[in-house]
Amino acid sequence: MVIGETNRLLIAKITLEDAPFILELLNTPNWIKFIGDRNVKTLEEAEIYLQNGILKSYENFGFGFYKLLLKSEDNKIIGTSGLIKREQLEHVDIGFAFLPEYEGKGFGYESSVAIMDLAKNKFNLKKLLAITLENNLNSIKLLEKLGLKYEKKIKPFEDDDELLLFAKELDSEKTTL
Ligand SMILES: CC(C)(COP(=O)(O)OP(=O)(O)OC[C@H]1O[C@@H](n2cnc3c(N)ncnc32)[C@H](O)[C@@H]1OP(=O)(O)O)[C@@H](O)C(=O)NCCC(=O)NCCS
Repeated sequence: MVIGETNRLLIAKITLEDAPFILELLNTPNWIKFIGDRNVKTLEEAEIYLQNGILKSYENFGFGFYKLLLKSEDNKIIGTSGLIKREQLEHVDIGFAFLPEYEGKGFGYESSVAIMDLAKNKFNLKKLLAITLENNLNSIKLLEKLGLKYEKKIKPFEDDDELLLFAKELDSEKTTL
């Protein structure tokens, strides 16, 4: 189901049929390096990952991560962007990841502006967070370009590294591309 559109992309809900793409994305070098190895190595594990994560989020909160379809390449799925409410954080955070050949082409910015618009106007969120590793410079640049501001270092997950917390109030200004 398509829920949004930008100049180059369609934004659609993820389904179990996207398991092959999820398997590929979760095993790209930058996902493993900057997000972490989720130990999803088979199609079956990718389906379980979707069921317990993204699909459950749609049910519980009405939002989640979305797939990004590139209009000029026959709606090929090139990445994900979306919203997640984690127990460990007070507010919803935004996240994104692209296949390697589609990084650094402005898709992160383009899709996130649309996701932030949905967060504000469809899901009525007042504040948006983001967490990232300190060495994920591309992610930090993108967050700053989106108007999120660095707040502090946090350690929300016990067996994980310290992360940088970014935040933005959504009711203060209109987000436009
Ligand atoms: C982090 C990530 C989502 C950024 O998305 P992106 O589509 O590459 O970012 P954009 O092309 O929209 O760029 C946004 C800004 O970030 C910077 N940037 C992003 N990728 C860059 C790259 N490869 N080289 C140099 N600068 C880059 C630029 O400053 C750019 O601003 P500009 O267009 O004004 O120069 C993407 O690199 C990615 O998928 N990384 C792997 C997964 C990941 O780390 N996700 C984030 C977890 S916190």
